Amino acid sequence: MVISRPPMGWNSWNTFTSDINEKLIMETADAMAELGMPGYGYDYLVIDDCWSKRERNAEGRLEADPEKFPHGMKYVADYVHSKGLKFGMYSCAGTMTCARFPGSYGHEFADAETFASWGVDFLKYDYCYRDKNVPGEVLYRRMGLALENCGRDILYSACNWGADESQNWIKTTGAHMWRSTGDISDCYLSVKNLIQKQFALFPTNGHGCFNDMDMLVVGMNGKGKVSKEGELMSFEEYKTHFSAWALFGSPLIIGCDIRQMTDETKRILFNRDVIAIDQDPAGRQVFRSKSGSDEKFIAFRFLDGGDIAVGMFNLSDTLMRPNSAYAPLTEIGLDVSFGRTLHLRELWTGEEYDVRNEVIIPKEPIEPHSCRLYRASVTGV
Ligand code: GLA
Repeated sequence: MVISRPPMGWNSWNTFTSDINEKLIMETADAMAELGMPGYGYDYLVIDDCWSKRERNAEGRLEADPEKFPHGMKYVADYVHSKGLKFGMYSCAGTMTCARFPGSYGHEFADAETFASWGVDFLKYDYCYRDKNVPGEVLYRRMGLALENCGRDILYSACNWGADESQNWIKTTGAHMWRSTGDISDCYLSVKNLIQKQFALFPTNGHGCFNDMDMLVVGMNGKGKVSKEGELMSFEEYKTHFSAWALFGSPLIIGCDIRQMTDETKRILFNRDVIAIDQDPAGRQVFRSKSGSDEKFIAFRFLDGGDIAVGMFNLSDTLMRPNSAYAPLTEIGLDVSFGRTLHLRELWTGEEYDVRNEVIIPKEPIEPHSCRLYRASVTGV
């Protein structure tokens, strides 16, 4: 199986952790279908950890917890498929999952077969309780081979948090996406940290295997299991979070409760122009302007067809003034002597302007924790 765009969908972990069951999954599938989410690209519904029994069955196979999933997983998968969605599940490269349910270590081929028989389309594969005598790349290759040989197309989502220099070997394993950094929390500092850690990993991202910056916390509003008391994120901060994930080309896996999304949350998650940046078919590498800093920066991605995505990010606690970061047009390969400049359209406000004076700079100061995300087209001067 080959993929050419960052996967999109929903995952149960951020809001519900172990508090999952058939009813929740089916209601989420209903909500995703009613909101037309596959039409925006959100087509995977993924059950994370804590879905199975504490022990394998007599044949050594994984089984769903009958209290949480009384009709079994095939039933859930069929329901999810009937809503026009794809179905994802979770396992782990160790002897146990992170929440201490049975892991797939030593059972990789059998488990891949089980997942295929249930109709699974996506497998998130974690890294807890692993055998330290076996290198991580071998553990991930095992499941990669097992999935490619299980007779069903199953998207392979590796989740080892960027540990063990995985950027150097993850593409050998068959993974289609890989968690390039640690777990996200529903707070601004966590989001900021994940954005900044990504700078060094830009060259790894692209077609076939995408850098996964972790599931989105947009719209959780402090209500999830990965939320932190007293650290509510603002609309502006969630917008910055979503803009960075999109500009950097990360998978967009929603983590809030889909059944209870506010209009503000929908405004962010359903912004088609921003999603289009994330899903751009060219899948090119992001680069940062040489000006600015890790706190205040301008970043670019060349898009299919000649447009350019331009993000101006103020991750700091002080205003980003026009002189904090400015990118000469020459830095992106343009020069007014060629008779060309850029026309910018901001994807959250619709504001448009032309770049004058040969430099791309914030038009007005950008507030702390905020950003501007543009789609720029090359025009005559
Ligand atoms: C790890 C992963 C999380 C989640 C939990 C489940 O921490 O990184 O995304 O899957 O395990 O236990």
